[in-house]
Amino acid sequence: MASRIYECIGKISEAINENKDFLTDLDREIGDADHGVNMARGFSAVMEAIPQDETDIGTVLKKTGMTLLSKVGGASGPLYGTAYMEAGKLAAGKSELNAEDFGAMLNAAIEGIQKRGKAVRGEKTMLDALIPAYEAYTAKVTEGADLISALEEACTKAKEGIEFTKTIRATKGRASYLGDRSIGHQDPGATSATLTLEAILDYLKG
Ligand SMILES: Nc1ncnc2c1ncn2[C@@H]1O[C@H](COP(=O)(O)OP(=O)(O)O)[C@@H](O)[C@H]1O
Ligand SMILES: [Mg+2]
Repeated sequence: MASRIYECIGKISEAINENKDFLTDLDREIGDADHGVNMARGFSAVMEAIPQDETDIGTVLKKTGMTLLSKVGGASGPLYGTAYMEAGKLAAGKSELNAEDFGAMLNAAIEGIQKRGKAVRGEKTMLDALIPAYEAYTAKVTEGADLISALEEACTKAKEGIEFTKTIRATKGRASYLGDRSIGHQDPGATSATLTLEAILDYLKG
């Protein structure tokens, strides 16, 4: 029987696959039309690389990150690769996560992306979905919410983050070459990051 973490990564992979053309079309508008194709290829490789019966969440996330790093080209491969590996370090030896664990992992993922990509909030990247999502998540958990309801709020904020990316100019990555012409378009990475959080929520609710 497949482990829970294998099934959860499977949900993320499915969401990326279902939105492959959408993500690529978004990247066509402000980049080089490869985000969906890249991510889908990466997650197909991930599903082959991770052992179905492995219950150690840290082991599975580290393998996921390493595979994304080696199979996904461009900016997003190393960024997502780092995110999964950093989150995985905190989950080493764990087969279950509580609300605090998940928050710490999301934070570690964001810090990993920031260290690698040298971007801050407001530069029209995946961080514009992830940082507000994390802030909403921790605020909810501090109020006593459980993982699912905190993640629901996080997904709402991530979607607002996507909308926000439409209003700003890209200053990192390929989209920055467009300058002001990047305004009006939603960021592909903010979109895939939101799809990822929604897939985890979907998995936890299912
Ligand atoms: N320095 C960065 N920090 C964080 N995210 C970034 C950075 N550069 C690019 N991105 C994200 O990567 C996405 C583009 O991914 P992708 O198309 O796969 O890579 P590439 O731009 O190399 O073709 C962008 O939409 C943006 O969200
Ligand atoms: Mg691209």
